[in-house]
Amino acid sequence: MKFEIASARTDEFLDVAALDRIAWPEMNDTFIPDGEHIWRVWCDHATLLVAKIIDREPLSESNQIAGALVMFASQTGDMFLHKIMVHPVCRGRGVGTALMNAVLEKAHAPVLLTVDPLNEAAVSLYEQFGFRIRERIDGFYRPHEDRLIMEYVPADLV
Ligand SMILES: CC(C)(COP(=O)(O)OP(=O)(O)OC[C@H]1O[C@@H](n2cnc3c(N)ncnc32)[C@H](O)[C@@H]1OP(=O)(O)O)[C@@H](O)C(=O)NCCC(=O)NCCS
Repeated sequence: MKFEIASARTDEFLDVAALDRIAWPEMNDTFIPDGEHIWRVWCDHATLLVAKIIDREPLSESNQIAGALVMFASQTGDMFLHKIMVHPVCRGRGVGTALMNAVLEKAHAPVLLTVDPLNEAAVSLYEQFGFRIRERIDGFYRPHEDRLIMEYVPADLV
């Protein structure tokens, strides 16, 4: 599978929103993906990177976005990495790694994120890039939705 990392084009926000509806492991009746409108806003006002398949495999449908990541500036002066997601059939092939590499090149302030402590794939990915657990907050969203707050400090700020 060949892919390239690029900033999302405006006309791709619906494809990213569609990926958001299928990418999450804990999907159930209470799972709420981000709305399509916010993906349009992030397309224009945040760092929204996409991994696009360039050899048309293994996705056969018209949406060729294998993965996406969104990061924006926080009012605390940090960056906030809100989401990284890879299409289920494209996982384990370096897409998440390529997205992280690309976005952290742009990070000139500490980067914060939240992640489910049980999401081993994501926690492992973040740790590989030097993210460290700053805090655990039980019931961060709803009572059953605990989250780790993880932080990455760019080398030039250490
Ligand atoms: C987490 C996620 C983005 C990883 O994307 P990916 O393209 O499969 O990742 P890569 O192939 O680049 O793998 C990079 C690293 O991630 C970790 N990883 C990926 N899949 C893993 C798995 N099933 N179990 C444990 N670690 C895993 C490993 O550390 C891996 O490095 P390694 O290959 O040297 O072991 C992807 O699994 C995903 O979209 N999950 C659903 C959405 C999600 O949970 N997003 C993060 C929540 S904020």
